[in-house]
Formats: sequence, structure tokens, C-alpha cells
Amino acid sequence: MDRIRINGGRPLVGTIPISGAKNATLPLMIASLLTDETVTLDNVPRLADVGLLQRILNNHGVDVTVSGKRPGEDENSGQTLRISAKHIVDTTAPYHLVSKMRASFWVIGPLVARMGEARVSMPGGCAIGTRPIDFHLDALRALGAAIDIDQGYVIARAPKGLKGAHIKFPKVSVGATHTALMAAALAQGDTLIENAAREPEIGDLAALLVKMGAAVEGAGSGTIRVKGAARLGAARHAVLPDRIEIGTYAMAVAMAGGDVMLEGARADLLDAPLAVLSRAGVQVAVTNEGIRIRRDGAGVAPVEVTTAPFPGFPTDLQAQLMALMTRAKGTSKITETIFENRFMHVQELARLGARIHLDGETATVEGVDRLKGAPVMATDLRASVSLVIAGLAAEGETMVHRVYHLDRGFERLEQKLVRCGAAIERIAG
Ligand code: UD1
Repeated sequence: MDRIRINGGRPLVGTIPISGAKNATLPLMIASLLTDETVTLDNVPRLADVGLLQRILNNHGVDVTVSGKRPGEDENSGQTLRISAKHIVDTTAPYHLVSKMRASFWVIGPLVARMGEARVSMPGGCAIGTRPIDFHLDALRALGAAIDIDQGYVIARAPKGLKGAHIKFPKVSVGATHTALMAAALAQGDTLIENAAREPEIGDLAALLVKMGAAVEGAGSGTIRVKGAARLGAARHAVLPDRIEIGTYAMAVAMAGGDVMLEGARADLLDAPLAVLSRAGVQVAVTNEGIRIRRDGAGVAPVEVTTAPFPGFPTDLQAQLMALMTRAKGTSKITETIFENRFMHVQELARLGARIHLDGETATVEGVDRLKGAPVMATDLRASVSLVIAGLAAEGETMVHRVYHLDRGFERLEQKLVRCGAAIERIAG
């Protein structure tokens, strides 16, 4: 297994190009199952999760082609995928594929909507809590699907097609909103989704569905209206920038110090995290090119933050913020409200000298003057990158083990940081 070696203590100075969002790319790729025509996606990041989803789609009979480089493109340009689900030959998504990535469960919506049946393994993914699928199943039931669970598989059937319905989620769920949206796009009649997730990635999926021929209104708000289409067609769409990648590098600069332009970053995707950084004393400037983050020798001030669905502070930046606050000038409080078990980074940060006390869903982080490099273990995607951020600011060598988690969600992480002066390298094997 690869490891990442970091020699910390150097400020970050330069430019980091921001990639397309992983969490938008996955539902956009899955939406291609809704049509027998070609869906073209631009600005797709090169990530292990994207490759895995390609394999899952291949298994259903979907052809995915990746365009070669065109003039003027470099390794920072996103990829273009052409996805054709002309013939769906298999409506089963098997355990050995779905168990590796939770979002692949979302194929269930388009498969049952278009084919009248789907047999999808119950999901796996990052070990950050129990992560049930009841909202997804309730939404599909509301749309008229019969649901059975058999030997670890969810079997959804709607031989006469789905019918528009009123879906009201008891709690905000990004994935269940994606499932409801995709299924409703091919359902007969109108669907009203209440307490929908407002994450920008929902808006990106809705934009693609509209281009494919569905009528979707209100994406980005808590109430979404969908007028289903009898069939959906070809469309082309560019994936929006990755707000979690933007926030992660912003916190890396805040922690290591320096001056970095996050090229292509859009501030409207992460108002809450940028406001937290400003409160901590980090300089945030929004320009036409992107977002410029600067932090001088003064260090950062402590903050109190609670994670919440969008537009609140994202749970996917909680670990990175905690890394940053380990060196704040005072005591911070970070409360996690989305996932009950998302504190695996705490014990690893402690190896670097962080002082963090956990009490239920709240972590109290007492800032220390210095962190010292140590071997640490990556446990999930966002926790892994918090260890990298801390390693960049720690004195001496930090070795991050099990970095395959990072490859799931961060494109060319080491190269992007090396360009800004970090001493970070991957050790194969
Ligand atoms: C998505 C993101 C993930 C992010 C999370 C929250 C992708 C690929 N993943 O995950 O990075 O951390 O949103 O912003 O976009 N829940 C239920 N029943 C359900 C579904 C969810 O109880 O059927 C609960 C979950 O356990 C959790 C909460 O709802 O407590 C929110 O989860 P959800 O928004 O669904 O997360 P994901 O879509 O899995």
C-alpha cells in the first residue's frame, strides 16, 4: 500500500487548480442510466471513485469513453467522459462493486425508473457511521416501486413505470434527494420533494436533468418540483468545482501559512467555511481567477463551529477544520451533527501532539504551539486529508499510511501541494 511522506514546516505559496467535484460527478454519471442517448460530461476529475463507478456502469452494459487530451489542455484540465447507456443488459449492481463506494447505490433510482426493476447490493463506503438507506427506499416506494430486501440486496420493482408523488424527507439527505430526483425525472406526472438537500451538487444534477428533457424547478431550495418525461435524451454538462477540495486547500494554507490562489474556486459554493476562516483571522479574497488565501505569522484564532446541511458548514470539512484548530491560539469547539462516528481523525491528530477532548458529538480542541511529525493512519477520505494538512504544519516527518482513501477523492494531491513548495511525496508499495 502506498504511503505519503511529508516534511512539514514550509509555507505554501503559489497556485492550486481546483478540480471538478467528486460528489457532483458521481450522480451525473449515474444519471446517464436514464437515457439511451449519450451524456457527455466535461471537467470530470481523475479519481479512483470515478474509475470504480465506470466499472459499475460497465457492468450494466454502459459504455464510457474518456477523451484524449486536446490542444491547450494540460494535466490540470478535467477529463471529458462520453457515457452511453443505449442497452442496459443487467439491472443488478453486485456486492463486490457497490460495497466499495456508497454512492454507487444510487443507480437504483434510474434503473427502476427506466427498466422497471433494479437489484442493488446494500452499500458500503467510508466508515463514518451507520448510514442507512431508508429515505432512498421510502422515496422509491412513494413513486410506486415495490421494495424487497433479499440476501443483502435491495430489489425494486415497478413494471408499469414510476408515478409522480409527494415526497417529504424527515431529515435532509443528499443521496436520497439525488435518488428521488433521478427517479422522478422518468416518472409519469409531477413530483414534489420537500425538505430536499440544498447542496450545490443537487443543483448540478438538476441542471443535467433539465438538459436531458425533464422539467425541474427549485433545485437549491428545500422544495423541488419535477415534471417527469416519458423519455430523456442526450445532453452535455460541465461538472461544477469541488467545494470540499477548495475548502481543504484553504485550510492547508491557513495552517501552514503562505499565500495561494485557488484557481477556478467559486466562493458561492462555500460561504460558511470561508466565513469561519475569516473569523479565524485568515485573509480570504475573491477574485475573477478564484479565491486567494493568505495567512501570515500571526497564527489563527479559535472558532466554534457546528456542521449542518448546506448552506451550513459541511461535515466533509470538519476533519480539516479540526486539524487547523489544533494550532489555534486558544480553545475551539467543533460539533458534528451529520454523522455520529466521524471523529476517527482525533486519535491520529493526537499522535502529532494535538490536544482534543471528545464529548459526544462535540470535540474541544485546545490549540498547541507546535505539532511534531509522526506516523499516522488514514481512516476515511476526509480524515486522511486532515492528517496531510496537519503534517504540512508539523515539525519533521509525518508518514501517512493507507493513502488509498485520498485517491478516492483528491486529484493529484501531492503534485498540487509540491507546486506550492510543500515537501510531500508518495512512496509506492
Ligand atoms: C453525501 C456526500 C458525503 C457527505 C454527505 C453529507 C456524496 C457522494 N457523498 O453522502 O460526502 O458527507 O452527503 O453532506 O455526495 N440518512 C438516513 N437515511 C437515509 C439516508 C441518510 O438516516 O436513507 C442520514 C445519514 O445517516 C446521515 C444524514 O442522513 O446522518 C445525511 O446523510 P446523506 O446526506 O444522505 O449523505 P450521503 O448522501 O450518503
